[in-house]
Amino acid sequence: MKLKVGVLISGRGSNLQALIDACAAPDFPAKIVLVISNKADAYGLERAHVAGIQTAVINHKDFPDRQTFDRAMSEKLNQAGVQLVCLAGFMRLLSPWFAEEWRDRLINIHPSLLPKFKGLHTHEAAIAAGEKTHGATVHFVRPELDEGPIILQSSVSVLADDTAETLAARVLEQEHIIYPRAVHLYAEGRVNVIEEKVFIAF
Ligand code: GRF
Repeated sequence: MKLKVGVLISGRGSNLQALIDACAAPDFPAKIVLVISNKADAYGLERAHVAGIQTAVINHKDFPDRQTFDRAMSEKLNQAGVQLVCLAGFMRLLSPWFAEEWRDRLINIHPSLLPKFKGLHTHEAAIAAGEKTHGATVHFVRPELDEGPIILQSSVSVLADDTAETLAARVLEQEHIIYPRAVHLYAEGRVNVIEEKVFIAF
């Protein structure tokens, strides 16, 4: 039985596409059963449609507060039988309620080598700080922004003539590799969280 994955997006959905492509392999141990976007015009919804994946638009503006919105998403995920939630460019802060409800069943991809450069504009920040190495992180989600046990990271060199755009493009290539890899490992039951650290069984 393949692990049932739900993906939350807000936009372009290139990481969603990487997950869709990985799931297309017959022996991949997970499948995407639902894509939720908080924006009706997210391009990632097109990607899901092309792949024949069920989608839902849940607009945060239709809810009085963050937790009510999160509860609506959670209900939809549960209805679809989702076992693992992947954030893929989902641009809303989640409530502590959602992070606890899906604890250790909720992962995110972030475009920096956490714990460095949390939040937005990570590539600009890495260049401004004179970093020589930058990268991407897949991690479990905790209530605090961009916190949580790290599952996988991949690094790239920061080049002397890098702009935020050129650096972002190289980091994104790594995101598309490590996100499916992390889902693969999780689906095989090889990702264990012990005292807030991840141990991967090989
Ligand atoms: C990625 O850089 C991801 O790391 C960050 O938001 C961006 C989403 O890009 N969380 P996409 O929608 O997956 O193309």
